[in-house]
Amino acid sequence: MNIAILLSGRGSNFLAIKEAIDNGAISNAQIVCVISNKEQAAGLESARNFGMNAIFLNPADYKYIENGVSYFDRNAYDSALLDLLKANNVDLVCLAGYMRVVTEAVINEYAGRIINIHPSLLPSFPGIDAQKQALNYGAKVSGCTVHFVDKGVDTGPIIMQTTVPVFQDDNEHELSKRILAEEHKLYIKAIALYTKGLLKIEGRKVSVVS
Ligand code: GRF
Repeated sequence: MNIAILLSGRGSNFLAIKEAIDNGAISNAQIVCVISNKEQAAGLESARNFGMNAIFLNPADYKYIENGVSYFDRNAYDSALLDLLKANNVDLVCLAGYMRVVTEAVINEYAGRIINIHPSLLPSFPGIDAQKQALNYGAKVSGCTVHFVDKGVDTGPIIMQTTVPVFQDDNEHELSKRILAEEHKLYIKAIALYTKGLLKIEGRKVSVVS
């Protein structure tokens, strides 16, 4: 199974996935491309250093000016992204800190084949700064969620979740660190099930086929 990783930053989830493929925890899979909208993303740099197929898809190439105002053409950008996924025969797209909403064209073409990791227990605290949202809300438990991607923001069918305690004197850094350690394990478990063909989606419900 050919996996594409989409990322915008650090890339620790990407590295965890790569390691799991290398050590056999995820079987029947290979990362065929790592794509980023950020040229300087550390995750993209890591992919380059591994000699992997690291692709910077430059948002600046999809800007246009109308009446002196600069716009970003999301559809054209994602159409180029879709071309890349197809050209690399990608079967599964793993979003790993990809800070951009994937548009409908990609989601339709890859329905049930795009997954994401989010640092909260969805449906609580979707969107950015999920850990900060949990702290500010006063939640006593947070965690992480791996889910299929649909047209909404962090709204797709949930594959797996792990809980993490929120302590009384917690801060964003400590909570994020605690959640991230669980993210790495959870994402691998979910991808391993996917690549073995063991995940079944029925409406919002995802089950593990035994
Ligand atoms: C993770 O917390 C992930 O849940 C969120 O973005 C962060 C990416 O971290 N979507 P990394 O780039 O994988 O280290």
